[in-house]
Formats: sequence, structure tokens, C-alpha cells
Amino acid sequence: MKTFKLIALVVFALLFIPLLTHYYLTKVSDEGRGTGEELPEWVSKLVDVDKLKGKELKLRIEELLRIKLSVSAELRGLEAKRQKLQTEISVLNRRLEEAKGEAGRRRNELDRLQMSLQQAKVAEKEAMERNTPRLGRPKPVPPLRYIPVYPYNAKLSNMYCDMDNCFDYSMCPVAGSFSFFLYPLMYTNRSVSGYSETTVTINQLYNILSESEQLVTDPLKACIFVVVVESCDDYMKNIIPQQLPHWSGDGRNHIIWLHCGGNPYDKSFIKPPEATNVMGRAMIVSENFGKFFFRRNFDMVVSHWEKAIPSGEVWSHLPPLVPAKRKYLATYLGGETDPEVQTEFLKIQQQDPFSFVFQFSCDPPMKRNEIDEGTKRLSSLCENDLLRTRLLLDSTFSIILLPPDNMDVVTTKILQLRLYESLKHGSIPVIIGTRFMPPFNEVIDWSKMILILPVSRITEMHYMLKSFPDSDLLEFRKNGRLAFESYFSSLQRVVETLLATFRTRIGIAPLPYIDLPSPNVFNDTFKPLKLDSFTQDPEEEENLGPIEPPYPSPSFSSNFSLTSLQKYDLWNSHYQPFKSFPFSPWDQPMPSEAKFRGSSIGFRPIAGGAGGSGKEFSESLGGNYPKEQFTVVMLTYEREQVLMNSLQRLFAVPYLNKVVVVWNSPLMPAPDLKWPDIGVPIHVVRTEKNSLNNRFLPFDVIETEAILSIDDDAHLRHDEIVFGFRVWRENRDRIVGFPGRFHAWDLNYGGWLYNSNYSCELSMVLTGAAFYHKIYSYLYTYEMPHAIRDKVDELMNCEDIALNFLVSHMTQKPPVKVTSRWTFRCPGCPVTLSEDDSHFQERHHCINFFTKVYGYTPIRYTQFRADSILFKTRIPHDKQKCFNHSFIQYRHQRLNL
Ligand SMILES: *[C@@H]1O[C@H](CO)[C@@H](O)[C@H](O)[C@H]1NC(C)=O
Ligand SMILES: *[C@@H]1O[C@H](CO)[C@@H](O)[C@H](O)[C@H]1NC(C)=O
Ligand SMILES: *[C@@H]1O[C@H](CO)[C@@H](O)[C@H](O)[C@H]1NC(C)=O
Ligand SMILES: *[C@@H]1O[C@H](CO)[C@@H](O)[C@H](O)[C@H]1NC(C)=O
Repeated sequence: MKTFKLIALVVFALLFIPLLTHYYLTKVSDEGRGTGEELPEWVSKLVDVDKLKGKELKLRIEELLRIKLSVSAELRGLEAKRQKLQTEISVLNRRLEEAKGEAGRRRNELDRLQMSLQQAKVAEKEAMERNTPRLGRPKPVPPLRYIPVYPYNAKLSNMYCDMDNCFDYSMCPVAGSFSFFLYPLMYTNRSVSGYSETTVTINQLYNILSESEQLVTDPLKACIFVVVVESCDDYMKNIIPQQLPHWSGDGRNHIIWLHCGGNPYDKSFIKPPEATNVMGRAMIVSENFGKFFFRRNFDMVVSHWEKAIPSGEVWSHLPPLVPAKRKYLATYLGGETDPEVQTEFLKIQQQDPFSFVFQFSCDPPMKRNEIDEGTKRLSSLCENDLLRTRLLLDSTFSIILLPPDNMDVVTTKILQLRLYESLKHGSIPVIIGTRFMPPFNEVIDWSKMILILPVSRITEMHYMLKSFPDSDLLEFRKNGRLAFESYFSSLQRVVETLLATFRTRIGIAPLPYIDLPSPNVFNDTFKPLKLDSFTQDPEEEENLGPIEPPYPSPSFSSNFSLTSLQKYDLWNSHYQPFKSFPFSPWDQPMPSEAKFRGSSIGFRPIAGGAGGSGKEFSESLGGNYPKEQFTVVMLTYEREQVLMNSLQRLFAVPYLNKVVVVWNSPLMPAPDLKWPDIGVPIHVVRTEKNSLNNRFLPFDVIETEAILSIDDDAHLRHDEIVFGFRVWRENRDRIVGFPGRFHAWDLNYGGWLYNSNYSCELSMVLTGAAFYHKIYSYLYTYEMPHAIRDKVDELMNCEDIALNFLVSHMTQKPPVKVTSRWTFRCPGCPVTLSEDDSHFQERHHCINFFTKVYGYTPIRYTQFRADSILFKTRIPHDKQKCFNHSFIQYRHQRLNL
């Protein structure tokens, strides 16, 4: 309307100004001429208003108004036309935009197709190259025919036994699995010790052996034969071979576990017993060994087990790791020993009276000739008693002495017991006597948890022990605790460790972890409906990578190199030698050039190796590891529409292998629910019960190393997902994800508080949106202490904190936070404030409880955040960034509710 008025005004002015000007001009010239023509009548009527009378004036005004009306009508017509044209233009413009968008989309699609085609070609080429004949399973090796079978009475012939000349590998094919046959329990003389509890223990030991997964009942399928013999002396003579039907003439592949129950001071097998020759080629397992009887890499020292924690949760028996320094520097709670050594100890105590506790009356004297009388008298002193436990809990170090004057002894039952209890109570063992043979030392690196000193260093010991920094003390103690928990704590663990040590020795891979079945919610009669079509978010149209057919991660490719290459780490870094993982996050990448010189299969270097940003970068995964995909695991509970929306958003995500939806609700999905087709399978797993622990179950349908765990309502952009995946590929053993949290020290009351405030430092990445390796699903489900999973179920909370604890415990590293566009709301947090408070209270409690279970707080702080390279870098227009949307430039912050 405003413009209309303006136009009318202008028209009016345009009409009048020329008329007026004309009039004045002509009037001037008329006056000049004196005489002239008359003005047109209407003009003079119009202009000479003053000369007009009332009626005429009215008429003229009416006339003027008429003119004005007709002019404005014409103008309105024009304006309408103009508007019509403008609308047409804008419609056309919109169409043009749409067409452009469509063209872009098509081009993108074409690019994507081309990219995928290119990848498919590479994959095809690789498949052709790899087309080598598959090897069949190897035939078993022939039995040890060339080694003569010694007659039993060939004295000491077996003293030279080693794995080469006395072990028959043909019974243990490397491509098979390790197995053993168990003979019935043998008692050779039960009356010696007189400790009644013994038989109970040895029966338990026997039961545990007989429940082992590796037990076979068919002797022809067994690799080794296990005999548990309770014997405190040489009473095996002529007994064993006759009672053992699979002895095969020489006892090959037999393991004789000798045990003298109850009496911790038993010393059988220190000297070569009379019955040695009876043993043939059998291997001996014992806590007692003399130097000249022990056959290196053949016989085996077993850890103390009679006082092992019977079963269940070990952690509740163990003290926390901190403080590093305890009340006393060191204690010795043993028997009387060499006078010189004792004098030295007393001297140390005089120098530093409050640091040392020396008790020489806890065990029988160590001198050779006094042993026997001492046995009964002293056995109960300092045993099982609170004082002993208290002193160990209060001591940084615990001194264990080998008998100084009996140089034959390399291990005895009492030494093993002392080692066991020191580790249990977190008192770092200091063993005086370098000939000491700790248990399972062919696989366990004892230097990480105990100190072994020669007797002659006793005078320097005090000075040395005082010098240890807290960090070293805690490292010794932590390793001791980890080894204790994994290998010695319970009877079960001792048995497993013994079998695993043998298995490792002969180079057979452990049994694999069992994947859990994933029963489908849908079946033959109940089929999901398909959603016909849906529109993709236009923001997601950036080409981030090829869409490829499913490609599961290769599994079990290192069966035979594992027991050698990874032996040390499996036993001494991860403490997981008992089961094998299908793949490992700890594999070292090959040298960079290998993929260009003969080992190219699976690698997708960027631009074939030339490198690049933008398009070239998006086309290939690059990095140090071969191509791979990831699986999305989503836990859902009765939020069907939210879930459907989240699933739709996963349409055409590059490198996505599969989506596994963990259906936690007891109710089946609504039959009329329409499921989107997102280009990859969506597997909906029915669960037994509603538990947050289900999020981390190792389902068999998960076929990739990488798992992206997301909440059913999380909204991650595709570029965030792909970037997160690329970052995870470089940090395969860590949690890599988006929402960061930290644990804060409670300044008022001590202990930990869970904190979700913005912070420059974080220690946890929540699993509402995070990548992690599948092995952590096995560890979470099978290895993590029960108490933690129970706590998660009890509170229906904290499963994400539990995974952060587990992963940091395994790696001793913090998680990796990836930049994301928005701050995640607290995933899974209740909405109302009062509930919010209890939710936080529970999470504080979880951190403190998990700390108690682990004995320390494994989660670590980090100030590191992963941003895409070229993020915020000024680059010329013709160059492209790695991701088109740099993560900070998001136009709108969208909070997900
Ligand atoms: C068991 O040991 C005791 C004490 O050493 C001995 O007297 C007894 O004869 C032994 N019994 C057998 C069956 O060897
Ligand atoms: C299939 O699933 C539906 C819904 O859970 C169930 O009612 C039906 O019994 C199942 N049918 C078969 C054949 O298992
Ligand atoms: C490696 O071990 C796994 C699990 O035991 C087995 O399935 C696979 O066949 C083995 N691979 C070879 C080459 O023997
Ligand atoms: C988080 O920050 C808010 C505001 O700064 C503060 O009031 C609150 O106490 C903080 N919460 C925690 C757990 O530190």
C-alpha cells in the first residue's frame, strides 16, 4: 500500500508540475508579446481556481478525482501484473534451485557410486590375487618312535628329559585344541600329615580339574594326562605305572601333580627321590623342588593354592593400592635363619627402628638339622592370625628368605605360601636368594612385581628399598595384584594357569571366547514391515566414503603366531592368556612401505598412496591398517518411533557393516511398526532380561572389530561418525567417542564425584556415542568382576562408567574425545530434576564402588581432543578440507530430546 501511495503522489506531481511550468512560461511570453492566444479552456479553468465559483469548483474537483481514480486503477492493474510476474519468477527460481539440488544429489550419488565401484574393482582384483589354494588341515605328526623307551629301572635316565626328547608332540596336533585326560585321584599315603582339611582341598582341586573345558574323556584325543597324587614322601614307587593305563611304557605326556596336603613345611621332592626312575618321561608339578631335581622347561613350579581364596569375588579380599608407602618399610615374618643374616637384620632395625618388623619365630628354623623338630611346634605360630595379616597390610615390602645354608632348595611350599600372602596383601615381595624359582616363570615376568636379591646385598637392602619412588612402588604393587588376581588368587585360577602354561609351552592357541547367540526378535511368522520411503536429511549428502558390501573383519588369523609373538603381552600386559580373541586391538601395524611392496591386500591408501585431501581423502580409509567396517549397536527400550528415526539417519553411512538393535523390552515390537531400509542389515536381538549390561554382550552377529555404541535417541551426523571411525582406527584399544565426562575429587568428604559439567579435562567418554573394540565385549561379559555387572543391574545405571573403567584398566590410558557439533545431553539421564539428582548420586556411588573392586581408579584424565586435520586451517579455494563441514561451523545447535 505504501508503494501505491507513493506512486500516486509521483504521478500527481508529474501531471501538475509540467502544466504549471507550461502555464507560467506561456504567460511570461504572452506578456512579452502583448497579445496572444487564449489558454485552453480546461487549463485555465483548472488553474485559475481563484476565478472559479463554488459550483464549478466542485465540478472540477470531481473531474480531478475521476482522473485520479482512473489513473490509480491503471496503476493497480500494472502492479498486479508485476506481482504475478514476480511470483512466476520465484517459482521458476525455486524450480531451478531444486533442479540444481537434484543435480547435485545425483552428482553426489554418481560420485558415491563411482567411488563404490572403484572400491569394488580393487576388492575384486584383490580377490583374484588371493585366489591361492586353501591348505587342508595338516596330518598329525608321527609319534616319537625314534626315542627308545627306557625300562623303569634305568636309573636317572629321565633326569635329562626336556621337551625335545621326552615329550610326544604327535599327541597334540597344533591345529587342534589343547586337551587333557584326568586320572582318578591317587592317594599314596594319607596318614603322614594328619591335617584333615587337606583331603577336602585336594578333592576340590580334583573337581575343578574335572570340570575344565579342556578335559576329554577319550584318552586317544588327549594331549596330556594329568595325575593328581597326594604324597608326602617317596611312596610312588611301583605304584604309578601300574595304576595308570595310558602310561604307554614311559609316562610320556603325563603330568604328575604332587602334593603333600596341609603341612606347609613339607619338603618332599627337594632331593631327587628314590622313585625318580619311576617317573619315566612324566613331568612333575610341585611347590617343592631341589635344584638338582628340577628339570628346566620340563617340570613346573606351581603356586601355592591350599590357602587360595575358595571361589567368587577375589577383589573383596584385597587391599587398595594406595597409599604407596605404608606404615612399615618392610617386615620379615619367617623362621630363624643364619646368625649372620639375622644379625644384619637386627642392625638394620637399630638404624631405623620404626620402619622394620622382624619376627624370627613365625616359621620353623631354616637350618637343615633343625627342620624336623620344628615342624609341629611352630606350624600354627603366625599362621592364620590377624597379626600376620595386619603386619603385611601395613608393610610396603615383605622379606622372604631362602634357607641360606641349603643351597639345593629352589622352591618350597612355605616359600610359595609366603609369596602368595605377600602378593595378596599388597606387600611387595623381596626375595633374598636369587636361585628362587617363582611359579610359572616360563610365562610370567616376575621382575615386574617382586624383587629378587642375593643374600650378599642384605647390607644394601635398606638403602635400596628406601629409594623407591611412589610411582615404582605402585607399579610393583599393581602388577602383583593383577598377576595375583589372574593367576594365583583362587584354586580355579591356579588350575587354569597351570594348563595354560603347558599349552603355551607347546605352542597351541587357547580356546576362543564364545560369541553369544543373538536370537532374532522376528521369525517366520512375525516379519517386520518395510517403510516404503523416507527422505534423507540433506545435510547428510556429503560424500564421505564408498558404500561397500558387508566386509567382516578377518578373524583368528594368528592362531599359530599368537603363542609366540604375543606370549609376553598376553601374560604380562593384558593378563589374558586363557582364551583367544578373534582379533586384537594390540596388533602392530606393518612398516608403511609394506603395502606398496608385496603386502597391499586390504589396504586403501589415500589416492593410491599419493595422499590428498577432500575427494581423494573421502575415497579411501588410508591409515596404517587395512580396510574395515564397523557395527552399530543400539540398546533400546520401548521407544519405537525414536528408534525408527535414529535408524533412518543411518541410511548410507559409509563403512557401516550392520546395525544390531538390542531389544531390551519384554514386549515384542509393534507388528505395524515400519522399519526403514537403510542399505545394511538391521538385526534386532531379543534379550533375556532388561539389563544395561546387554549393551556390551559379544553377539555373534557382530562381525567387525569396531563397534559404535549409540543411544537410540542420539543424533550423530555422518561426518561425525566417519571421522570418529577414522580416529578409532588409530586408537584401537581405547574408547573413542563424543560425550566426555570426568571424575572429580570430593573436597568436602573425600572420594570421587561424577561430573558432567563442561570442563577442559575429561576422563570418560560415554557409550551413548562411542567406538570401542569388540574384545571389550568379551572382557566386560566374561572377565570383569561380577560385582560390577551386578551393580549396573541393581541401579540400572553406570554401564558406561563400567566400560570406561574396564578399558582404562586394560590400557592404562584415557579415552579419546572427538570433536562434535553439539554437546550431548546426559544420555539416559532422567528428565526431571529430582530424578536427576538420584541419577547423579548413583553415578558418584558407582565410581567409588568400581574403584574398590579394581583396588584403584583406573580411569585417567586427558586434555586431548581429536579434530580433523585442516580444521580451522586457511586453505586456498581450489583445495578442500578433509570434511566439508568443519565441526565448529554448524549453523544451528540442535539439541536432541
Ligand atoms: C604312611 O606313612 C606313615 C608315616 O610315614 C607310615 O608309617 C606308613 O607305613 C605309610 N603307609 C603306607 C601305606 O605307605
Ligand atoms: C514368532 O514370534 C511371535 C512374536 O514374538 C511369536 O508370538 C510366535 O510364536 C513366533 N513364532 C515362531 C514360529 O517362533
Ligand atoms: C583358528 O582358531 C579358530 C578358533 O579356534 C578356528 O575357528 C580357526 O579355524 C583356526 N584357524 C586355522 C587356520 O586353523
Ligand atoms: C556444574 O556447574 C554448575 C554451574 O557452574 C554448578 O552450580 C554445579 O555445582 C556444577 N556441578 C558439579 C557437579 O560440579
